[in-house]
Amino acid sequence: MTPDPHSAPVDGGVRPSPNIWNHPQLYEWENEAFDPDGLVEAAIAALHPLAGAVVVDIGCGTGFHLPRYAALGAHVIGLEPHMPLTRRAAERVRATREGAAAAIAGAAADLPFASSSVDVALARWAYFFGAGCEPGLAQVARVVRPGGIAAFLDNDATRSTFGHWFTQSHPAYDPVAVQRFWSRQGFSAIGLDTRWECSDRERFEAIVRIEFEPPAADRILAEHAGTAVDYATTLWWRRY
Ligand SMILES: C[S@@+](CC[C@H](N)C(=O)[O-])C[C@H]1O[C@@H](n2cnc3c(N)ncnc32)[C@H](O)[C@@H]1O
Repeated sequence: MTPDPHSAPVDGGVRPSPNIWNHPQLYEWENEAFDPDGLVEAAIAALHPLAGAVVVDIGCGTGFHLPRYAALGAHVIGLEPHMPLTRRAAERVRATREGAAAAIAGAAADLPFASSSVDVALARWAYFFGAGCEPGLAQVARVVRPGGIAAFLDNDATRSTFGHWFTQSHPAYDPVAVQRFWSRQGFSAIGLDTRWECSDRERFEAIVRIEFEPPAADRILAEHAGTAVDYATTLWWRRY
């Protein structure tokens, strides 16, 4: 879930996401392992009811979360710029309650939604909304209606075992600068004690290997036994 935070934007501010772009099937395992306690969904629902809400999931990848939001009563639209993933997301939502979920092509900097038409704008792994991606944030401010919210999930690299792995692999990453950026944009932080819990070691090793370069992954796997890890995250949110 952690593409290189310094990866350069390509077309239209789209940031390469090698984990899910190159390994969508393994990323499915990662999504299945992440947050078995449902802390993220509960935090979002506490900020804004999802039943009946128009929800957009920006950078939805293969659309893993779209049926979940639809099951909570949301009318959810997934937006994804990388076409092989957009197609997977569209296939996934075809199996969902008719009309409650859709997946379309698009990127944060050019949201294909009318002004003030969205109740809840979500992004899981919000690195493409960080510094340099202000056009996407301006688009979010345009499409979310008064009283609606934006909520973006990102790593909290200041704590947890996963946060430690992350800072070791990305020494130039400055979590304090990230916090300052979001505060300046008017966002508040909700810290979440999320975790990965895999069904077996094979899955755990596979998802560590799509998140870290081989030397770092070898080191992590040599030191860390089992099928789980504590993985702190932050939900950055604001109301419009
Ligand atoms: C780490 S993946 C997470 C996918 C999904 N949110 C999930 O949790 O399964 C990040 C996704 O953001 C997409 N992305 C990258 N830059 C983007 C942008 N500027 N606007 C919207 N999506 C973007 C990538 O193509 C990728 O699918």
